[in-house]
Amino acid sequence: MSQDRLKIEVAKAALAQVEAGTVLGVGTGSTVNAFIDQLTASGIQLAGAVSSSEATTKRLQEAGIEVLDLNHTGDLALYIDGADEVDPNRRLIKGGGGALTREKIVAAASRRFICIVDESKCVKVLGEFPLPVEVLPMARALVARRLVALGGTPELRDGFTTDQGNVILDVRGLDLVDPVKMETAINQIPGVVTCGLFAQRGADEVLVATEGGIERR
Ligand code: A5P
Repeated sequence: MSQDRLKIEVAKAALAQVEAGTVLGVGTGSTVNAFIDQLTASGIQLAGAVSSSEATTKRLQEAGIEVLDLNHTGDLALYIDGADEVDPNRRLIKGGGGALTREKIVAAASRRFICIVDESKCVKVLGEFPLPVEVLPMARALVARRLVALGGTPELRDGFTTDQGNVILDVRGLDLVDPVKMETAINQIPGVVTCGLFAQRGADEVLVATEGGIERR
């Protein structure tokens, strides 16, 4: 099965968890795009959605789904998003698409976070995928030095600006055996908006598309 097909299958599985008339948190990326396509095709009528990026907002609006301001919705019952890596404890690396900060905010505001991935994203220990860190532009060099002190090799994501007008440092080589500890350490560096470790608030459930069907973790 192609990776695109696996994304469609896991998107369909997530759809079964969506209740009509509710406000849904929606993540960012190609797997989420497949989910939005399935949601549109299903005809399920939401009360609206809270979006995690400008890209997702555009797609939701094109699908005729009203995008609501998180400041007005209160907590959400459900957030659906993809990931770049998932470990056996449902902790994640996210931000390959650069939307990590808004994704982390919507995940924090949601009572349930269902992560949808294909099996290529599942790892034993996080860290093969470079860890994205969103940084205020004036702090780029300072944060890079601090990340080196933590054992990483940061690289500026060339020509990329986040929805908040910031830059991304992609960091290789960090020891992520204790991802909660590393998430805390990185997020305390002045100038860091947030890092792409979703360990303090990981997913509540992971739906994995495999050749043999959907696995629930
Ligand atoms: C966006 O910034 C990311 O966190 C995505 O959720 C992640 O990169 C997964 O994207 P794909 O579904 O495109 O692999």
